[in-house]
Amino acid sequence: MPHVDYEQYGSGYARHRRADPRIAARIHAALGDAPTVLNVGAGAGSYEPEDRWVLAIEPSATMRAQRAPGAAPAIAARAEALPLDDGAVDAAMACVTVHHWEPPAAGLAELRRVARGAVVVLTFDLEALPVWQQEYLAEGLMIERPRFPRVDAVAAALGGHTRIARIQTPSDCVDGFLEAFWRRPEALLDPAVRAAQSMWALLAPGVEERIVGRLAAALDSGAWDAEHGHLRTGDTYDGALRLVVSDAT
Ligand SMILES: C[S@@+](CC[C@H](N)C(=O)[O-])C[C@H]1O[C@@H](n2cnc3c(N)ncnc32)[C@H](O)[C@@H]1O
Repeated sequence: MPHVDYEQYGSGYARHRRADPRIAARIHAALGDAPTVLNVGAGAGSYEPEDRWVLAIEPSATMRAQRAPGAAPAIAARAEALPLDDGAVDAAMACVTVHHWEPPAAGLAELRRVARGAVVVLTFDLEALPVWQQEYLAEGLMIERPRFPRVDAVAAALGGHTRIARIQTPSDCVDGFLEAFWRRPEALLDPAVRAAQSMWALLAPGVEERIVGRLAAALDSGAWDAEHGHLRTGDTYDGALRLVVSDAT
């Protein structure tokens, strides 16, 4: 399976991938009142609650170095082998990371093992991305698709009483994942925005330039707006974001 090297590609992450407050509220509600929370694949610390004890797990030193002063401590470890005892924390969370795990099911079983209560996973159903992204980003999504576990497979791997919730992506989403720009396609022309999205790191030489060139031309000519301009007036997009929540078994 293709692999993204966060040591090489993660350095601009903290600037463009910040917690969106509306998405954070959904994650924190799903964590309930758990006093101790483990954040796995924690990156720079987005979505970590600040009102309780948190421990982070993050394998990349480049990503750990971007954690804010005062953020929860981060252990260098991987989801597939968490260095914690069974039931060591009240709840566990994993945001936009399960597609990097090898395999995702191994990390999900570990989350379920170490958490006494809720396990909360934020991920995407790539098939529900906006039509224009499916079209323009097709060459990249072809590589991403096999890496992303199906959302129902995430739920099944967690087991217990599991629910899948849709999360609307705000039009001004401050977390710069692909779908965040559903009504701001120009943002994907910015190399710094793309550098904080792992899909681009998986592409063969020349593909990124081809995708960006085609999108730039469609924006310039008005072809994008002629076909997708109705999106420009929306406040939220009911697309690919999913929250999978498994309560204690
Ligand atoms: C897209 S970032 C998300 C970071 C953070 N959770 C957030 O929402 O901003 C994906 C993170 O998963 C981490 N990661 C990659 N492979 C991992 C693994 N096997 N176990 C745990 N984390 C992993 C990467 O180092 C990276 O920090």
